Amino acid sequence: MSAIPAKRDLVLGIETSCDETAAAVVRRGEPGFGASVLSNIIASQNDLHAEYKGVVPEIASRAHAERILPIVRAALTQSGLSLKDLGAVAVGNKPGLIGSLLVGVAAAKALAWSLRIPVIGVDHVRAHLYAGCLDAPLPAFPALGLVVSGGHTSLYHCPSLTRATRLGGTIDDAAGEAYDKAATILGLPFPGGPNLDRLAQRGDASHAPVRFPISRLGRDSLDFSFSGLKTAVLYAVRGVPSRPGEPQPPPPDLDDRARADLAAAFQKAAIGAVTLKLGRALDRHPECRTLLVGGGVTANSLLRSELTRMGAERGLDVRLPKMAYCLDNAAMIAGLAHHLLDARGWTTDPLTMTAEPTTAF
Ligand code: KG4
Ligand code: ZN
Repeated sequence: MSAIPAKRDLVLGIETSCDETAAAVVRRGEPGFGASVLSNIIASQNDLHAEYKGVVPEIASRAHAERILPIVRAALTQSGLSLKDLGAVAVGNKPGLIGSLLVGVAAAKALAWSLRIPVIGVDHVRAHLYAGCLDAPLPAFPALGLVVSGGHTSLYHCPSLTRATRLGGTIDDAAGEAYDKAATILGLPFPGGPNLDRLAQRGDASHAPVRFPISRLGRDSLDFSFSGLKTAVLYAVRGVPSRPGEPQPPPPDLDDRARADLAAAFQKAAIGAVTLKLGRALDRHPECRTLLVGGGVTANSLLRSELTRMGAERGLDVRLPKMAYCLDNAAMIAGLAHHLLDARGWTTDPLTMTAEPTTAF
């Protein structure tokens, strides 16, 4: 038996950084294992933002305020536990939409204060890298990290579960953002990423009328750029703008087949850009035998198969998160919090802990 009191085995996680209101209860893993998920409740706001084809911050924060307590209650019920069983409350406090983050931070602080247990703010991007360790053996370090989400596309060198150095990242749009914008251009409903992925699986990139560019940004760059790809999709769908004085050419006539082929060509270029830079980073860091990946785009069918292929080719332990832990969730927040709390002796963050829209991570 562990000498650590049982209460310290149970952490409630809260996540409200964008448009998912989420709560989860996780238990300390057995020695050598990541945290074990007892409950994982996620309330999506897709229906509220669909008509705007993007997340409206004011609507998101209002919905979080309405939903946070029922969602926490549902997470406790699903875990079979009650508030008095908890050893700490963890909350994603950065980065994200400030109004959305504030709802989760206020709820976490109030719960922790009333229960007299520690509260800890957790970096959302760092937590995405932990998602593949939930309910799984802990991996070997150092590891290479890849976060691909709606807000981030970054590579990291991770000496341990709780430390990471950024190697590169996007200089404009994130991969998920490019997916969402390309989906809107192709006339697909919100949320764009998963719908474009589904359409792409019915298409054939080699039949598309254009080959989309993969931005390399120099031979040694570990940065990403997706804005050129997004513009190329716009031109392929609406036609290339005319030069001054010349007549505007009509947009190409796109039937369902042609849209599916364009979606497949976009998917090939977007995921190709991610795997190109990941390959470069792995070449530069051969000491990394583990690949930690996370973020909404890791739910993508082509990225998942490419990562599995790269892992087999290079003999890597690839930590692809289960689908439920790819998108924003609170299990990854509470899971990482266990390790952060252990490292600092379960001290609490002060009640002045704030929400922060950006991260230095
Ligand atoms: O991690 P996440 O839930 O939120 C952020 O932290 O940003 O990621 C959401 C992003 C959205 O841009 C969404 O379109 C994208 O992940 N996404 C996908 C897929 N599923 C979600 N992109 C491509 N293919 C998918 N299957
Ligand atoms: Zn996220």
